[in-house]
Amino acid sequence: SIEQSLRPSSLSTYIGQTALKRELSVYIRAAKKREEALDHVLLYGPPGLGKTTLAMIIASEMQVGIKTTSGPAIEKTGDLVALLNELNPGDVLFIDEIHRLPKVVEEMLYSAMEDFFIDIVVGQGPTAHPIHFPLPPFTLIGATTRAGLLSAPLRDRFGIVGHMAYYSSDELEQIVKRSAKILNSPIQEEGAHEIALRSRGTPRIANRLLKRIRDFAEVSEHHDSIDRTIVQHALQMLQVDDEGLDQTDIKLLETMIRFYNGGPVGLNTLAANIGEETDTVAEMYEPFLLQKGFIKRTARGRMATPLAYEHLGITPDNK
Ligand code: ADE
Repeated sequence: SIEQSLRPSSLSTYIGQTALKRELSVYIRAAKKREEALDHVLLYGPPGLGKTTLAMIIASEMQVGIKTTSGPAIEKTGDLVALLNELNPGDVLFIDEIHRLPKVVEEMLYSAMEDFFIDIVVGQGPTAHPIHFPLPPFTLIGATTRAGLLSAPLRDRFGIVGHMAYYSSDELEQIVKRSAKILNSPIQEEGAHEIALRSRGTPRIANRLLKRIRDFAEVSEHHDSIDRTIVQHALQMLQVDDEGLDQTDIKLLETMIRFYNGGPVGLNTLAANIGEETDTVAEMYEPFLLQKGFIKRTARGRMATPLAYEHLGITPDNK
């Protein structure tokens, strides 16, 4: 798909996450030199920042195979056994949303990660007995939105922990230009810059906006390339504001301010009020609004900051 082709396929073409890339490049070269599997890698950070892409790049740079799955997809220990059984020496097993693994599956991973074996119980009742099942050395890459969601025993078994940070607007601008080139869509410097500023620090959003804006440009008689004007026009229709806030962000801030006098208000209450899942608010909306300085966390809940009032053009009541 187009989505696939926008993914960079090597560390050298992957834009941003500079410190993490530099680290990974060292560990990959060292592991290859020793002819060993790369140590297990945990990638954590908000959705859309390139955790899956990075896992695929790690496998490619290690010149090994990769099996991809997700926490919720592994329902029973048997599902994990089947996956592990298919691994060749040095391969990557990528588990997205690793914080959502069932407990019994997670526990089976401990020995698999630490000593490359699993104990499988065969038979039932009095004849039940464990079989020691050796595994090839492999690399587990786990992805999660928040490192704090993992149990300590699982977290401690990752030798490499990478925190994915939001991208700078310069990095996003480079990504937009690269994607536009791949999509064969002429874009001007100011157009790419404007998209970058409104993409919430997130490549997935930048690429999605680019595709939608390209649609506007292609049906417009006055635009043979994506310039700032068409970006502004398209994003107005998409209801993305000049800071990149969408309708849900705005609803969230307005609810805090108008119904809860700016807070503090609990995350569950807030999510219920705007009709979103608590997890979605915690993983997608809150981190961005925190980073932008529109909300802050207190012991009693979330509060809207003066910047949020200003952005929405609301004058705070004097309490
Ligand atoms: N497309 C999406 N994320 C990217 C990244 N980090 N670098 C280059 N292209 C990308």
